[in-house]
Amino acid sequence: MDNRSTKSSFLLLFILQAFISFCLFYFWNSRDLTLSGFCPPLPPPPSSPPGPPPLTILLWTWPFHTPVALSNCSELLGVPDCHITADRAWYPRADAVILHHRDISYGTGSMPVGPRPPGQRWVWFNLESPSHSPNLGLMNYRFNLTMSYRHDSDIFTPYGWLEPLGKPGKVSVPPKTKLVAWTVSNWNPNSVRVHYYQELQKHLHVDVYGARHLALPRAQHLPILSQYKFYLAFENSLHEDYITEKLWFNALSRFLPPDAFIHINDFPNASELARHLRAMDRDEVRYQAYFRWRERFQVVGNVSWNTHFCKACRALRETSTYRTVPNLADWFSSSSGW
Ligand SMILES: *[C@@H]1O[C@H](CO)[C@@H](O)[C@H](O)[C@H]1NC(C)=O
Ligand SMILES: *[C@@H]1O[C@H](CO)[C@@H](O)[C@H](O)[C@H]1NC(C)=O
Ligand SMILES: *[C@@H]1O[C@H](CO)[C@@H](O)[C@H](O)[C@H]1NC(C)=O
Ligand SMILES: *[C@@H]1O[C@H](CO)[C@@H](O)[C@H](O)[C@H]1NC(C)=O
Repeated sequence: MDNRSTKSSFLLLFILQAFISFCLFYFWNSRDLTLSGFCPPLPPPPSSPPGPPPLTILLWTWPFHTPVALSNCSELLGVPDCHITADRAWYPRADAVILHHRDISYGTGSMPVGPRPPGQRWVWFNLESPSHSPNLGLMNYRFNLTMSYRHDSDIFTPYGWLEPLGKPGKVSVPPKTKLVAWTVSNWNPNSVRVHYYQELQKHLHVDVYGARHLALPRAQHLPILSQYKFYLAFENSLHEDYITEKLWFNALSRFLPPDAFIHINDFPNASELARHLRAMDRDEVRYQAYFRWRERFQVVGNVSWNTHFCKACRALRETSTYRTVPNLADWFSSSSGW
């Protein structure tokens, strides 16, 4: 910027400030003055009956067609509220529509038909991994925003995250009487994780919970699993950023401090992993070190659909960019992102 334009922007700033000061002055004194016509009209006083909500978000379907009780985003996330509804009668007036992938993956007939209201934004919402997301190609060039567990989504909705603690906390690790647990709901004998488990089992006993294995009632998850020193957080498929409640909710990179977990890729084979787990089992000090991060962070793992909807509310209010998501299928299936 040259000297002259610096000067003129200072001048402009000064004039603006003078104008703002005058208007503020006028505002504060307006009750006593009858002057008018100089400043822009005053904003209406905070109205007692609140006007219509400024942003309406239509849930085209409830996720997996299962209704949930909606919560108030100002209470849940401390953001200004949105009007969130699953009533399709709002479609022509909705500012945004959230379409949950599974429920619209059967074909375009399960999506809204007819002309799209101008300015309406469609949000593609999916928390499943690419291997469990049929017909991704159908989603290309239809959406304006993405909402998923991938960190490069427009609206990032992970299964959990860490929040720094205001002041360092004390860590108390519950007493551990057992060694290794794994919970599995889909037992696929050909899957990588079952093979790995079978290898590991040769060197180390692993308790398996879930279908056709030890019973694990929902309410008993934490009391049972916290008895174990180690928990195998094997995902059903390996994809970029795909870390589900298996880790966020049960067991407790990019998202976790490196001293918080043991990654199987750091071991050449299951027998070396077993050796490491046994060594940690004997060495209380090194075992405890895996919990040191808890002095600095707390885990948010009880994320509800409402949390996701309210994140969408916040994001849709903050940005209003005009945009189309081009090849959604390529992006979501890739490991490198856009
Ligand atoms: C949400 O909660 C806030 C604060 O409690 C309240 O002012 C607001 O009216 C509530 N909004 C809705 C839609 O219930
Ligand atoms: C596992 O890896 C270690 C170290 O590379 C090797 O010595 C060992 O033989 C391997 N064990 C098996 C069962 O492959
Ligand atoms: C999630 O956990 C937080 C903090 O522990 C708690 O305040 C909140 O009520 C929980 N939310 C749900 C939906 O369980
Ligand atoms: C959203 O994407 C659609 C499909 O490409 C496009 O027609 C529409 O103009 C976009 N709208 C906004 C608000 O970006």
